[in-house]
Amino acid sequence: MDMSPEEIRSHIDKDIFRLIAQIADEMRLECYVIGGYVRDIFLYRTSKDIDFVVVGSGIMLAEAVAQKLGKRSKLSVFKNFGTAQVKYKDFELEFVGARKESYTHDSRKPVVENGTLEDDLKRRDFTINTLAICLNGNRFGELLDYFDGLSDIENLIIRTPLDPDITFSDDPLRMMRAIRFASQLGFDIYPDTFDAITKNKDRISIISSERIAEELNKIMLSPKPSIGFVLLEKTGLLDIIFPELTALKGAETRDGVGHKDNFYHTLAVLDNISLLSDNLWLRWAALLHDIGKPATKRWDNKSGWTFHNHNYVGEKMIPKIFRRLKLPLNEKMKYVQKMVSMHMRPMQLVEEEVTDSAIRRLLFDAGDDIDDLMTLCEADITSKNPEKVKRFTENFKLVRRKLKEIEEKDRIRNFQPPVDGNEIMRVFGLGECREVGVLKTAIKDAILDGKIPNEHDAAFDFMVEKAREMGLQPIIT
Ligand code: CTP
Repeated sequence: MDMSPEEIRSHIDKDIFRLIAQIADEMRLECYVIGGYVRDIFLYRTSKDIDFVVVGSGIMLAEAVAQKLGKRSKLSVFKNFGTAQVKYKDFELEFVGARKESYTHDSRKPVVENGTLEDDLKRRDFTINTLAICLNGNRFGELLDYFDGLSDIENLIIRTPLDPDITFSDDPLRMMRAIRFASQLGFDIYPDTFDAITKNKDRISIISSERIAEELNKIMLSPKPSIGFVLLEKTGLLDIIFPELTALKGAETRDGVGHKDNFYHTLAVLDNISLLSDNLWLRWAALLHDIGKPATKRWDNKSGWTFHNHNYVGEKMIPKIFRRLKLPLNEKMKYVQKMVSMHMRPMQLVEEEVTDSAIRRLLFDAGDDIDDLMTLCEADITSKNPEKVKRFTENFKLVRRKLKEIEEKDRIRNFQPPVDGNEIMRVFGLGECREVGVLKTAIKDAILDGKIPNEHDAAFDFMVEKAREMGLQPIIT
């Protein structure tokens, strides 16, 4: 890796490092910057999370640093883990004493003994994370590379510093981290390391869902998330943590009629959408858009393979998946459900006829999420047939143009019918009852179908007329 010692030093020649270096020197504590921050220097990435290893007490150094920074900083000490965190401006500084670690077999709680810097680094996850930069005295800026981390960064390799069985049994979450780094950074997993993930995959069961979800979300947000999901599948981890996705695998053929492999199709859609949007939840919608397909797959002698209502079945599967993965069960999940349930609407609309009324209904049902829905549909075009791709792309352009026209004209996106339930009840002297609902829907439909304009008086007259047909007379006019 081509970086001169001066250049390396320049990356830590900042007030915050100088201050910590000075305090460490005064306390006669050896202190090193390690982990992601150092790795990212060589990847030309920046980070505000900085990890320090202290040969001695990390907590004591953190306390002294926090005291020096005064009120502008916030100190948190985790005595049980021998670590401390100082938050200062937008930095998160993590301090730990160098340790020789061995973990008990059935939990992540380590049995800790003090150790040297090298002892500490070799118990870490990957060689790319074992680089250390010294902060003390005239060694300020000196790089230590005990495990060939630099050459692995150069060759884009994820590899454990120790026998991978030991590294992964110390902390099985690292199997997910290996795949996450491969996906985030576009690195390859070294063959021995990869084989050990396959071998130790079942140990993932001792890891909490929250930590697994955190890694999954990082894979989702990587530039090409399929890299991560293919690796999860190949190592067998996906089947354990996300069986609904592996159920999408396979392309069955009957009487010479096949269907596409929905797993690889899903990953292509996810990659497509990742080129268009950084919205994590839109990416989740792409990942889950066909999740209902295995449960709805049928063979029909006339039409071949069908997946009727897979969008609605998929929508209903989402809460269970989100609950298990400890993903939020709030409006973010509702948004994903809405996207999944509606993902075929624009396509159906194109296949039938792009009438104004169909466009108004789509706008009404999608509301402010209409642009995301169109993006999802465009990402869903993964056909290898260029003719088909061209036709679909042009059709969607037409839909987008029409959506814009109708929205400018009729303002349907966040439309509330101009006569509401309260007014209906008042005018006809009704309490809450079925008739109120019938009238409300009739008014909404008449506006969406373009029979009446989206205005109060027109809606009122329409309602009176409709009510008369139902045998209702207004008590106020
Ligand atoms: N680490 C480890 N095993 C883990 C988690 C972390 O060995 N399961 C070590 C690695 O040396 C890592 C450092 O602790 O570099 C800091 O961890 P963390 O902040 O989670 O990761 P980073 O490597 O900094 O990367 P990112 O911020 O991208 O997650």
